[in-house]
Amino acid sequence: MKVFQKLDDFLDFAWGQISRGKADKKSPARHPTFVTSSADGFPNARTLVMRRSDRKNNQIEFHTDTASSKMLVLEENPRAGIHIWLPKVQLQIQIEVVVEVNVGDIIIPNWKNVPTSSRTAYGTIPSPGTVIGSSHAYDYAPDHKRFAVLVCHIQSIQLLLLGAKHTRAYYKNTTNWQGEWLSP
Ligand SMILES: Cc1cc2nc3c(=O)[nH]c(=O)nc-3n(C[C@H](O)[C@H](O)[C@H](O)COP(=O)(O)O)c2cc1C
Repeated sequence: MKVFQKLDDFLDFAWGQISRGKADKKSPARHPTFVTSSADGFPNARTLVMRRSDRKNNQIEFHTDTASSKMLVLEENPRAGIHIWLPKVQLQIQIEVVVEVNVGDIIIPNWKNVPTSSRTAYGTIPSPGTVIGSSHAYDYAPDHKRFAVLVCHIQSIQLLLLGAKHTRAYYKNTTNWQGEWLSP
């Protein structure tokens, strides 16, 4: 069981786990929960695949369909949450982000890297979330115009490590990630 005495070591450990989201298909960090706030006040949480993480630039990246409802919500409010639970190491990671939505020509290089078999996720007809007459009454029409890259700019990271004595800490960009311990 890990014990951390130094805030920096704890954050390094968490970033090691976040990085595995891209590198290791079996890591639970591969499938974070991405949470937005809707206009009616209900939070919306859904699973997304982590496409990239970048500690140096404080970024996590996701891909989505421009016609999905999260896009409308992000236009109104680009603040979002990312949640990851790593059972093997007993670590919860909560991240606050501001989301930059990239569409159009700028994302063509990203689109070229999406395997053909995965492109079906971007362009279903009718749009995701539309009511349909039967379970498979939709078509796949992959279209780069329906592909969005969500670059999430990390504002804060909160960690909770379960153990004989739990360990909790909060780090934010505005204090250069120096962090502070929190009572769990
Ligand atoms: C394991 C898993 C991975 C998923 N990955 C993505 C993804 O990378 N991008 C995406 O837009 N939706 C992904 N989804 C679907 C979303 O969870 C969600 O249903 C969809 O994006 C529509 O969300 P919205 O209507 O809230 O915008 C995934 C779902 C699962 C179960």
